[in-house]
Amino acid sequence: MVFQYAPAPESTKIVKIDSSYGLFINGKFVKSKDGSQYKTINPATEEVLSEITLAGKKDVDLAVKAARSAYQKWSKLPGSVRGKYLYRIARILQERSREFAVLETINNGKPIRESRDVDMPLVAAHFFHYAGWADKLEHAGLGPKPQSLGVAAQIIPWNFPMLMLSWKIAPALAAGNTVVLKPAETTPLTALLFAEVCQQADLPPGVVNIITGAGETGAALVNHPNIDKVAFTGSTEVGRLIASSVAGTKKKVTLELGGKAANIVFDDAALDQAVEGIVNGIFFNQGHVCCAGSRLLVQESIKDEFLDLLYERVQTLRLGDPLDKNTDVGAINSAAQLAKIQELTQSGEQEGADRWSLKCDLPEKGFWFAPTVFTNVTQAHRIAREEIFGPVLSVLTFRTPQEAIEKANNTPFGLSAGIWTEKGSRILEVANNLRAGVVWANTFNKFDPTSPFGGYKESGYGREGGRVGLAAYLKSENKK
Ligand code: NAI
Ligand code: MG
Repeated sequence: MVFQYAPAPESTKIVKIDSSYGLFINGKFVKSKDGSQYKTINPATEEVLSEITLAGKKDVDLAVKAARSAYQKWSKLPGSVRGKYLYRIARILQERSREFAVLETINNGKPIRESRDVDMPLVAAHFFHYAGWADKLEHAGLGPKPQSLGVAAQIIPWNFPMLMLSWKIAPALAAGNTVVLKPAETTPLTALLFAEVCQQADLPPGVVNIITGAGETGAALVNHPNIDKVAFTGSTEVGRLIASSVAGTKKKVTLELGGKAANIVFDDAALDQAVEGIVNGIFFNQGHVCCAGSRLLVQESIKDEFLDLLYERVQTLRLGDPLDKNTDVGAINSAAQLAKIQELTQSGEQEGADRWSLKCDLPEKGFWFAPTVFTNVTQAHRIAREEIFGPVLSVLTFRTPQEAIEKANNTPFGLSAGIWTEKGSRILEVANNLRAGVVWANTFNKFDPTSPFGGYKESGYGREGGRVGLAAYLKSENKK
C-alpha cells in the first residue's frame, strides 16, 4: 500500500517582497548611480519576485566610502558596545526567523524544513557566538591588543545565502571592521531583508553595506583600492581570479571554495546510521553544499548490502514544492546550475558509470533534478573528480583503510570528509591521514559556530567560525 501525503504548505503571508530594491549604503536604501536592474526569480516556479540592482562602479565606491567613514567610529567603540549591537541583531533574527526562512526558500529553492530548522537557527547562533567575542578579543589567543583590519569586502554564494552572510558579517563586526557585502545574483532577497534588520537594530550607518549584483560588481568590489580585506565563498575559478588580483596588495584574503568530499563507510559501521549520513551528506540542500559528501567510498565486502539499503532510503525522499513542510529535496537554484549538473551526469554515463535516479514526477515549471546515484565509478571519471554541486552521488569501493585514505585524498580539493566505523582507533587513524579541513565521524554536515571551517589545497585558505575565525579579521602582527 502506498501512502500519500496531504500537502502541508507553509504560508507565505509573513513575507513582504517589494517590486524593486535599491542598494543599502550608509544605513539607507538608495538608488543606483551607474548600475542597471535585473529580475530575481523563484527557482521552483520561475515566477519573477522583484527587480534587483546590478550595482555599478560608482555604487561600489560609495559603499566602500560609507564603510570607511563608519570604520573611524565603529573600530573605536568598546567591544562591549559592538557586542550589544550583535546581540540585538541575533535576537531580531530569532524573532523574525520564520519570515527569513520563508523568504530564503522562495528565492533559493531549498526546502522550508531546512531553511527553518537548519539555516536560520545557525544564523542566529553565529551572531550570538561572535557577539560574545566582541569584548573578549584580547583573550582570543591572538595577541594582547588585537587590531581590526578596516573595511572588509565580502562576497557570498547562493547555496546558503543567510548562513554565509552570518559567517562573514558577525566575526568582521565583532573584531571592529566594517563591511560591504555582495550576495549572489540569484539570491539577493534575504540579504536585503537583513539590511532592514540592521536599521531595526540601530546599527550605526555604514557599518554594514549591502550591494547587489553579479560577477562584475564583485570584481569591482575586490579591486577597489580602499578595502583592507576580501572574504570570498564560491567557485574555485573565481577564487583563483581573486587570489591573483589581490596578490601584491596589502589586502588580506580568505577563500572558501569547493569540495569533493569522501564519505567513507567501513564494514563494521552501523549501516542504517551510515545510510542516513550518506543521504544527508549529498541530498541536503539539493547537494548545493561545498562540503557535500559527494563521493561515497564503501568497503567492498558490504557494497551490495549497503547500496540496497541506500536505494531503499533514497526512494522515500520527497521532491517538490520547497514550501511544503514534507519536502526533502527542493529546486535547483538556477537554470545555469541545472545545466551544469546535467552536463556532468551525462559525462558520467558516457564515461561508463551506471546511473540510478529516483523515480519521481518533476514539476513542470522551475529547475529540478532527481536524486541520482552513480555506481561503477572510477577515480578517472569526471563525476569522481569535479564538483557537481547537485544531488548526485558517485560510489567507489575500497578494500583496506590505506586504500580508503588514498582514494579519499586523491582530489584537488580538501574541505571535508566523513568516516563511518564502530572503532574509535580507526576514526583517529583515518582522520589524521585525511587532507580535509573538517572530518566528521559517524555523522555528517554538523555545523556549530564554535567550530572552525575551511579547506586544504583548492578548497581555499583561512578558517571561518569560532575563535580561529576572528584571526581572519584581525591584524596578523598580533597573532601569536
Ligand atoms: P561563483 O564563484 O561565480 O559565484 C560566487 C559569488 O562570487 C557570487 O556572489 C558571484 O556574483 C561572485 N562573483 C562571480 N564572479 C566574480 C568575480 N570575478 N569577482 C568577484 N566576485 C565574483 O559561483 P557560481 O558561478 O554561482 O557557481 C559555479 C560553481 O561554483 C558551482 O557549480 C559550484 O561547483 C561552485 N560553487 C561553490 C560554492 C561553495 O560554497 N564552495 C558556492 C557556489 C558555487
Ligand atoms: Mg560564476
